[in-house]
Amino acid sequence: MSAAARDRLTLVRPDDWHLHLRDGDVLASVLPDTARRFARAIVMPNLDPPVTTTAAACAYRERILAALPAGMAFEPLMTLYLTEATPPAEIAEAKASGIVHAVKYYPAAVTTNATHGVIDPARCYSVFAAMERHDLPLLMHGEVSDPAVDVFDRESTFIERHLTPLVREFPGLRMVLEHITTRTAVEFISQTPSNVAATITAHHLLLNRSAMFAGGLRPHHYCLPLLKREADRTALITAATNGNQKFFLGTDSAPHPRRAKESACGCAGIYTAHAALELYAEAFERAGALDRLEAFASFHGPAFYGLPRNHDHVTLVKVSWPVPAEIGIGTETLVPLRAGGAVAWKLSP
Ligand code: NCD
Ligand code: ZN
Repeated sequence: MSAAARDRLTLVRPDDWHLHLRDGDVLASVLPDTARRFARAIVMPNLDPPVTTTAAACAYRERILAALPAGMAFEPLMTLYLTEATPPAEIAEAKASGIVHAVKYYPAAVTTNATHGVIDPARCYSVFAAMERHDLPLLMHGEVSDPAVDVFDRESTFIERHLTPLVREFPGLRMVLEHITTRTAVEFISQTPSNVAATITAHHLLLNRSAMFAGGLRPHHYCLPLLKREADRTALITAATNGNQKFFLGTDSAPHPRRAKESACGCAGIYTAHAALELYAEAFERAGALDRLEAFASFHGPAFYGLPRNHDHVTLVKVSWPVPAEIGIGTETLVPLRAGGAVAWKLSP
């Protein structure tokens, strides 16, 4: 297939393997953006307070389904927020529930609502052993929060200090290094066995760290893990487009009100759900690899999670459309990626 000639692309409906939906009126505002494009999403548990029990995950799932507009289909795949107090018995209950699909590891204080996260992963080894036994995947925000480590090195240091021993100690535990940002991560994941995988966001495929400082400070390009060097971005492009099953789509779309980002201490997170698949299509097209998008977006994730592929399809057309300057979320607004600009691919209704 000639990528240059493509002006229409039909894919098996994709899933988003890493998504922040929040709660309440923000949830109701952002959910349709995801449900229009994706059949399922792995829903992050970093609410305030975090979703640490199966019972809380069931209740959150009900709130998500209740917020779904009539006539839209969407299946939230729930996750538990790991703390150093999570009892191993919670894992059996989570697995038995059928609605919890993974446990999320946030290093303490590393990102939004991560104050309850893990300080020393060694304290969670009995929980990891239970997850290995029950075959419940571990999802990792792969950054150390050690203030002595430079912010741009926090992912590679996490791999060295924490992930390398975890992979060695738990050969039967499925693990996902979420939203990878570096060539180091691509190389590490590529040489691990098939129980270790990674998600890649659209913004890390499209932008490098210069985007945070283009003509001035750009808070809407601030996310964690931070955007990295151009050489890292191109390594991510290669990983996403080379057909390797270990890499799959996870947007990490993270809505924050405009005022919370345009602040003296702005918070981390980029909202991409309004154009998620279209932005990935742009990245793949620029790499001459549009024909690889379907596997990355729709096949590799279900294979890793042991879930069936979706049956229906979505179609993208090569029609540029303007992204609004802001999007309403409840009583506030957020500034989406490409606000005031254009996206080259459009979801066909
Ligand atoms: C996420 C958020 O806002 O919840 N922010 C982000 O920059 N990615 C948290 C996270 O996934 O780190
Ligand atoms: Zn996230």
